[in-house]
Amino acid sequence: MTEKRKGGRAEFSSKFGVIAAAAGSAVGLGNIWKFPYITGVYGGAAFLFVYLGFIAAIGLPVMLSELIIGRKSRRNAFGAFKKLAPKSMWRYVGMLGVGAAFMILAFYGVVAGWSVEYVVVSVLNGFKSQTPDQLSSMFSDFIAAPFRPVIYQLIFMFLTGLIVMIGIKDGIEKNVKIMMPLLVVIILVLDIRAITLPGAGEGLKFLFHPDFSKLTGEGILSALGHAFFSLSLGMGTLITYGSYIDNKNNLINTAINVTVADTLIAVLAGVAIFPAVFAFGIEASSGPGLVFITLPNVFQQMPGGYIFSILFFLLLTVAALTSSISILEVVVAYFNEELKMKRRVATVFATVIISLLGIICSLSMGIFDHYTFFDLNFFDLLDWVSANLLLPLGGLFISLFVGWRLGRKKVREEIQKGGSITEMFLSIFMFLVRIIAPIAIAIVFLKGIGLLNI
Ligand code: PFF
Repeated sequence: MTEKRKGGRAEFSSKFGVIAAAAGSAVGLGNIWKFPYITGVYGGAAFLFVYLGFIAAIGLPVMLSELIIGRKSRRNAFGAFKKLAPKSMWRYVGMLGVGAAFMILAFYGVVAGWSVEYVVVSVLNGFKSQTPDQLSSMFSDFIAAPFRPVIYQLIFMFLTGLIVMIGIKDGIEKNVKIMMPLLVVIILVLDIRAITLPGAGEGLKFLFHPDFSKLTGEGILSALGHAFFSLSLGMGTLITYGSYIDNKNNLINTAINVTVADTLIAVLAGVAIFPAVFAFGIEASSGPGLVFITLPNVFQQMPGGYIFSILFFLLLTVAALTSSISILEVVVAYFNEELKMKRRVATVFATVIISLLGIICSLSMGIFDHYTFFDLNFFDLLDWVSANLLLPLGGLFISLFVGWRLGRKKVREEIQKGGSITEMFLSIFMFLVRIIAPIAIAIVFLKGIGLLNI
């Protein structure tokens, strides 16, 4: 391993590497699998607009906050709070993040495993001459099966573990620098195909013409939860990655680039999916099966569908991998620095525990589906609790920490590195993290869990 180290700690080696890694974390299943289906479920453009509002007013400031905490402390998510606020309770915010990482990667690895299976099915031309019903049962039978989805999940987790084990520069950075440009090319090719389909206009209208009467309280909570999930916020992923960014990088530019890239890719994924869905008269609100059931139907009817289906599921797999490594890194950095495990041991240990949890998630779609909590199976429970509870809560504490505990002077010191800022910008940022973000998150959160009725 030839890691660049300063004071014993690894660092990313280039600006592009930093952006590719952080954008790689942000762009993932959240953008390509989840964003289109929840946009479909919550009524299209109205949901998109609320989501964009949350991204700008809450997502961006919280992202900058995480990067500040990470680079200032140069520690893992837990150690960062311990170092910046010694002997205080703040460290438990980091602990919450490490816990969320376990939960998210457990179900994330399962969905990523599905996309690996669908690359294989696409290559074997397995969607050909299947009726919509057959494609639907192909998916539901597959995810409920006891072995195949588990094997694919384990293959995916193995790849994730391998990259993380090699390290920050030679493992994570090297791989994301190849995978992210590949992902952009694939999505652009898919977009061009989608918008040149006859009847594509309806799909674009669904995505960009808001009908606010369709918006519900639940939709608003999901928009916030999804903003956190999609930007990889609220659990210390960007604290961890921020801790590997050197002082020559400007954190504001990094945060803006990553936020814009993530949002753009989500919208581009919508543009690739909805025109095709509408052009072939398929239900836009079909839920989690949207990309696995609906799209194979579309690919089957579309000229060039064989190639486009391979490209699409490859895109999904690559996007998932650049995100899963960032989630695993949160846990590995914690094990490594706090529990003093060697990186190799920490990676194996974390990967094995998360994979086991993942197996339970996968089986909860089939043989364990009668075990439910609040009417949710284990998979849906982890998804719901992490995206709608833990990440917003984490984001709330992170913004309070930067706003009130770290304070203006230390924030200025950190964000001035690698560039200059105006006092006006600083004032706006401090106002957002001290007041706006915490209040907005608290309201949406309490309303979402039914404790607030407005
Ligand atoms: N942002 C990733 C996605 O949109 O798929 C998922 C994710 C990665 C969530 C890292 C949380 C995280 F810390």
